[in-house]
Amino acid sequence: MARKKISLIGGGQIGGVLAQLCALRELGDVVLFDIVEGLPQGKMLDIAEVGPVDRYDVNLKGTNSYEDIKDSDIVIVTAGLPRKPGMSRDDLIEVNSKIMTSVAEGIKTYAPNSIIIVISNPLDAMVTLCQKITGFPYNRVIGQAGVLDSARFATFIAWELGVSVKDVTAMTLGGHGDDMVPLVRYASVNGIPVMELLEQKYNDAEKAKEVMAAMVKRTRGAGGEVVALLKTGSAFYSPASSAIAMAESILKDQKRVLPTCCFLQGEFGVNGFYVGVPAVLGEKGVENIIQFKLDAEEQAMMDKSVAAVKELVGSMK
Ligand code: APR
Repeated sequence: MARKKISLIGGGQIGGVLAQLCALRELGDVVLFDIVEGLPQGKMLDIAEVGPVDRYDVNLKGTNSYEDIKDSDIVIVTAGLPRKPGMSRDDLIEVNSKIMTSVAEGIKTYAPNSIIIVISNPLDAMVTLCQKITGFPYNRVIGQAGVLDSARFATFIAWELGVSVKDVTAMTLGGHGDDMVPLVRYASVNGIPVMELLEQKYNDAEKAKEVMAAMVKRTRGAGGEVVALLKTGSAFYSPASSAIAMAESILKDQKRVLPTCCFLQGEFGVNGFYVGVPAVLGEKGVENIIQFKLDAEEQAMMDKSVAAVKELVGSMK
């Protein structure tokens, strides 16, 4: 089997971690692109030189030239400004739209057969723009948000219940903003509903609901919580790992079911917009969108989140 090629557009905080994770897992050869001269070259040299210690053997190249991304199987985009304290993801739209426009043109020209995973924020708008400019089929342009939002939700549940994060399953749907939809009904510890465990813990249904509401709120604001602590930028380890889970499922045709920002054509009552939903990720990119019935409360939250995505996308010039 030919070796896979992964190109990373944006060699900043997330880009650097992405490159290291690709190497550690030997997912394939990696190209790191940035407009800043020396930055991607320096990071890739740094990562390459520890191959003998970490025992990976892949080709790692830093570049300022789009030509180097040719024949990529996957392109992961993190180019763009991150948030600073007090900013919402949506505040980044103007500057990051310009950056995404040039990035998408570069990918379209040099890696026309690739599958693109966008991480740049505001996510739902940046994926939409990237697909429009490349003109790639919808199954080959997707966004990372839900894997991380879901992981944050699962982390808070594990901490609250005093159980291993490995045994918690939780998922968020909708846009990657404050109106995202953490699915309480399906959150479980090895299949046991989290709400049942919270009710047992507190012996009080109302208190259990309050505790869950607080975890939902923290999940929605979790990105901002990290930004407020870091002060100089936004989360980078977690978005990188989340996108790598998606990339790995595609590169190895694993068919994992991961919450993915996908273009919807009627699913969950949404038509013509990119929104986070569970999707089967395999060698073709999005191979199937997993649908299920939302209850009235979940559907109302989904509708609100989708309305926010529509407004955001509509605000792009
Ligand atoms: N083409 C390629 N790279 C670019 C361009 C461009 N036109 N413009 C800027 N960049 C690069 C910057 O030089 C920088 O190295 O994008 C990189 C962004 O890195 P950071 O500023 O460290 O940001 P990071 O934390 O990696 O986040 C990137 O992902 O999660 C989102 O909100 C986050 O939009 C942000 C993005």
